[in-house]
Amino acid sequence: MNDPNGMVYHNGTYHLFFQHNPDSTVWGPMHWGHATSQDLLHWEEQPIALFPDSLGTIFSGSAVVDKDNTAGFGNNALVAIFTHHNHTLAQNQAGLPQYQSLAYSTDEGKTWAKYEGNPVLPNPGIRDFRDPKVMWHEESEKWVMTLATKQSITFYGSPNLKEWTKLSEFGEGIGAHGGVWECPDLISFDDQGKKIWVLIVNLNPGAPNGGSGGQYFVGDFDGTTFRPFDTDTRWLDFGRDNYAGVTWSNTGNRRIFIGWMNNWEYANVVPTETWRGATTLPRELGIEKINGKWYLASQPVPELSAITSSLQKLPSVDGGESLSLKATAGNLPETYRLDLTYPADHTFEVTLKNDANEQVTFGYAASERCFFIDRTLAGNHAFSEKFASKDSAPRIGDQPEIRVSLWVDVASIEVFADDGLTAMTEIFFPTQVYDDIVLQGQSGARFTDVHLYRISPTTN
Ligand code: FRU
Repeated sequence: MNDPNGMVYHNGTYHLFFQHNPDSTVWGPMHWGHATSQDLLHWEEQPIALFPDSLGTIFSGSAVVDKDNTAGFGNNALVAIFTHHNHTLAQNQAGLPQYQSLAYSTDEGKTWAKYEGNPVLPNPGIRDFRDPKVMWHEESEKWVMTLATKQSITFYGSPNLKEWTKLSEFGEGIGAHGGVWECPDLISFDDQGKKIWVLIVNLNPGAPNGGSGGQYFVGDFDGTTFRPFDTDTRWLDFGRDNYAGVTWSNTGNRRIFIGWMNNWEYANVVPTETWRGATTLPRELGIEKINGKWYLASQPVPELSAITSSLQKLPSVDGGESLSLKATAGNLPETYRLDLTYPADHTFEVTLKNDANEQVTFGYAASERCFFIDRTLAGNHAFSEKFASKDSAPRIGDQPEIRVSLWVDVASIEVFADDGLTAMTEIFFPTQVYDDIVLQGQSGARFTDVHLYRISPTTN
């Protein structure tokens, strides 16, 4: 799998579609794969939802529940809005290969039909013209499409999902422009009855630690124009491996995000065999004001508590001690979560280790106010010279103590610091599972509320 697509919640089921090439584990003619879940944790793969057709292969996009039958496919029809990518036009340098199309399902997402009037939004002359994210804008009573258009975002409006008019364009002279803008999302949050709007814009390359990443802007959206409150570039995740992430539609006030845990710098060559690509944990996004500015905070969804059980609690550990959790708790399970708190004016490291002398270190450098993940010694990195790296992230939180939560799987770590104000997601390929964690701080500064949890696998 590559990008998550068409995420929509409907009648108790979370639908997750995804960029998928059924014939290979490298990128190729894209289809929409499909998986469903009732709890965001246990997923069941469904038959492929969208196949390439005469208009092209099926690139990224979104899905909505058309409650009022604005499109005429039926009340509560699921409607997917996606990019058709025409390979023949793409090869012709002057060709304009991308345009937006619809497909719909009236049987809860089991079967899909393409709309016979496709494409609904023809290409106006922009080569990179893709990844529509559609939402219902209540105040102006219309559908709004957020579309990546080369290195800007263009907003389109529609009464019926079939006819689209350009509303405005955003992005010139603001944000990161190291690469093409892709997979955007426009979401709102409630701040005491007032809406705060966040525009997520993935880009590739141009992320702070190289390659693919997701930036975001915070501001106001009046149904036509997005106006950011400031010109800062903010990042959803500073790790190397959280790309093309967007949120579910039709989840009420919840903003549930999932990303593709990969980076285009090496996505096609990672050393996996039967699979390639995975999602991040589902994360709930919130907003928080720090020093007068709004930021996104990402937290693993609370549903995860159903597969989380306590393994060991250490109320207080001296930072000078170099504490091995294998020594105190025994071999770690393959999937676990570790929470801890540490004073922000001191430096600390948390190292995942195995018996093959491989390791991944997450840490905080107090003098630079920076978190980091070092995967230079993590295991196999021969597949790409871009892979082995030490990556850093600024601390955004401003409390005297840093609270971090590390979610570790066999081949990934997801770090949420300061309640998710700084997030870092990275993958790695050790030859053996990391079955030990070593905590190392500075003497006199104590780790507190160290809590290790087992995370039960949700697949066999
Ligand atoms: C992002 C992306 C999208 C595009 C899709 C094609 O990873 O490049 O912009 O729609 O992948 O697979």
